[in-house]
Amino acid sequence: MKKGFVFDLDGVITDTAKYHYIAWKELAAEIGIEIDLKFNEQLKGISRMDSLERILTLGNKNDAYSSEEKDALASKKNTHYVQLLQSLTPDDLLPGVKTFLEEAKHKGIPCAIASASKNAPFILDKLGVMQDFDVIVDPATLSKGKPDPEIFIQAAKGLNIEPSDAVGFEDAQAGIDGIKAAGMYAVGVYSGEELHGADTIVEKLTDLSIDELLAK
Ligand code: BG6
Ligand code: MG
Repeated sequence: MKKGFVFDLDGVITDTAKYHYIAWKELAAEIGIEIDLKFNEQLKGISRMDSLERILTLGNKNDAYSSEEKDALASKKNTHYVQLLQSLTPDDLLPGVKTFLEEAKHKGIPCAIASASKNAPFILDKLGVMQDFDVIVDPATLSKGKPDPEIFIQAAKGLNIEPSDAVGFEDAQAGIDGIKAAGMYAVGVYSGEELHGADTIVEKLTDLSIDELLAK
C-alpha cells in the first residue's frame, strides 16, 4: 500500500505554465530572442535560472551577460510573473484537485508539494489549498533541480515515508524522470506533450481512483 502523495504544482494543481510563458516571452523579446510554445515545453519543471540559461542558449547569448545581469533578468521576469498571478483564485485549481485532496485527507494520506517554484507558497495561498499540504519542499534548499530525484526524496522524507511508498504527480518530462529516479510510482498529468516513463497517464485527477492508486 502506498502511504503518501507528492505533487508538482505548475501544471498539476493549477495551470500557471501560460503565465510563465507570457513573462518569459516578453523578457526574451526584450533581449532579442524569440521563444514559441514548443520551446516553452522545455522550461516546464526547470528552475528560474536554468530556464533563463536555456533561453540564452537558444539565442546564442550565454556569454553576453554577467551573473549579476542574469540575476536582474530573472528577477524582472519574476516580477512580471507575480503580477500575472495576482488574479489567481480557487477557481483556478485544475479539475478534480480539491476533491482529490479532500479525499486523501479523509483517508489519512499525507500530501506534499515538490515544485521548483519559489512562488509555490504564494500560489497555494491564492488557490486556498495551503492547509491541504503537510509538506512544501523549499527549492532553495536543493542542490540539484529536476530531473534529479532530490526534491522528491526530500518530499518523502518530509512525509516520513520511503520514496517507494509514495505516488508522484507530474506534467513535465523532467519531473517524471525525477519521480522514477526517486523510486516512486509516477502519475503523468498530460498537458499536450508526450510523457515517457510514467506508470500511468491521466488528463485530470478526476480520472483517478485513490483506492486503486494506494494499492499500487
Ligand atoms: C516550475 C515550473 O514549477 O517552477 C517552471 O514548471 C518554473 O516553468 C519553475 O521555471 C520555477 O518557478 P519560479 O516561480 O520560482 O520562477
Ligand atoms: Mg509542472
